[in-house]
Amino acid sequence: MALTSEQIINAHRAIGVIDSGVGGLTVVQEISRRLPRERIIYFGDTARMPYGPRTYDEVRRFTFQMIDFLRHQEIKMLVIACNSATAAGLSYYQEACEQPVLGVIEPGVRAALAKSKNGRVGVIGTVGTIKSSEYEKALRRKNGGLHIVSKPCPLFVLLVENNLVDTPEAKIVVHEYLDPLIGEDIDSLIMGCTHYPLMESLIQEVVGPSINLINSAEEIASEVEAILDHNGMANPLSCEMPRNRFFVSGNPESFEEVGAKLLQRKIKAYRVHLT
Ligand code: DGL
Repeated sequence: MALTSEQIINAHRAIGVIDSGVGGLTVVQEISRRLPRERIIYFGDTARMPYGPRTYDEVRRFTFQMIDFLRHQEIKMLVIACNSATAAGLSYYQEACEQPVLGVIEPGVRAALAKSKNGRVGVIGTVGTIKSSEYEKALRRKNGGLHIVSKPCPLFVLLVENNLVDTPEAKIVVHEYLDPLIGEDIDSLIMGCTHYPLMESLIQEVVGPSINLINSAEEIASEVEAILDHNGMANPLSCEMPRNRFFVSGNPESFEEVGAKLLQRKIKAYRVHLT
């Protein structure tokens, strides 16, 4: 197949993925699984996480700093793999970027609606995401009759970032937050924070097998594929192992540790100061 020069240039460009920390790696994992030819450049703002308790203005300002950094790397599209940053202003990022910009809330909503049978859906996320009601609004736009229960779980992000998920204390925290949701007869629970899939088995153990946990990463990866195909930007060149790059604003070692556990291979992260 003959390629246009534009396709060849885009083929070498990466997909940018950002989050406040390691959570967005759950999205990287799924994009890499589905689109093994695509290269990813990741930024985790680990020095300033968690984003959940911050104001929307602040989250947008930090997000724009990461976006600027990635745009200098000539990315072809951008995934805001952070619900808090998506809730704080997806449309602002979309307006400012010439590349397609994808958030994580709509894909999560689609995944939940595909799974729920009884129309009773739970949403957990950071304080910022839950306060924004973006999930509730998006769910209701698609189905006005849903019963929706939302709950912020601010400590979950810290458990993940500090590698504490396998401790007895983590289980106590998860019970504390989620026991009240179990009584609501929900059949699906949206993990509305990209950090939460990193503690999925603990959450599942606490809520029990009758509640479907919704991880939007698969849906996001399929949307990334659709956007690349639609814009003729997919990488048509096969390469053995695309070299993903990881940048963080904080300590690279702890990011590398949690990242290696999730991605099941050693990763190298580089520190960048954002000001
Ligand atoms: N992973 C993020 C999210 O999806 C951010 C968590 C945080 O920094 O509070 O919301």
